[in-house]
Amino acid sequence: MDTPVDFLSHDSVDPQAVTGLLDLCFGPARMKRTASLLRAGAPRIEAASFVATQSDALVGSVECWEVEWRHPQATRRIALLGPLVSHPDRRGEKIGARLMDLALAELDKSRLPVMLIGDQPYYGRWGFSAQHTGEWILPGPVDRDRLLLRTRIGHRLRGPATVGAQGPNTGRESAAA
Ligand SMILES: CC(C)(COP(=O)(O)OP(=O)(O)OC[C@H]1O[C@@H](n2cnc3c(N)ncnc32)[C@H](O)[C@@H]1OP(=O)(O)O)[C@@H](O)C(=O)NCCC(=O)NCCS
Repeated sequence: MDTPVDFLSHDSVDPQAVTGLLDLCFGPARMKRTASLLRAGAPRIEAASFVATQSDALVGSVECWEVEWRHPQATRRIALLGPLVSHPDRRGEKIGARLMDLALAELDKSRLPVMLIGDQPYYGRWGFSAQHTGEWILPGPVDRDRLLLRTRIGHRLRGPATVGAQGPNTGRESAAA
């Protein structure tokens, strides 16, 4: 019988193993991707970041980060989910889905809106869509169809907002959004 896949807190594995899996999945240019630029300097949300392991081998990872959505009339803390990966040899085994379920369950406890850059046909099952993100300003190029927000009641994050790590003078959250 196969050893079960364990889902653990992200900080329970060697960061080098995670780097290796991310390099395998995205290639060495991954640090230049807009998603990487977005989370540069952002604090990781430890409670919502998980790994999947099997017999001590890393087979999946998801990380979440706290960033700011800065609109001329309002600033909101939001969660940036990603990267999400499952090992190329283990695709289709619901490792990705399980990591998503765990991360979103934690993020929902804090009632943070959740954004990511990814394929809507995959992430749509968790309520992600590009419907409200068309005017958002990111630190790099993005395919608008892949800039996704999980829209829930009370989250109206439309308009020309800049998204990124919290700036030095933007520590206070305003309520209007
Ligand atoms: C995206 C990814 C995490 C999915 O992981 P996984 O463990 O294979 O996912 P699951 O087993 O939970 O789900 C597989 C299902 O999703 C579908 N799926 C996978 N990637 C998809 C995509 N990009 N678009 C649409 N559907 C997709 C599969 O066809 C499969 O469908 P089925 O359930 O009807 O058979 C994995 O393919 C991966 O690591 N990709 C490379 C990294 C990446 O692109 N990450 C996302 C951006 S951060």
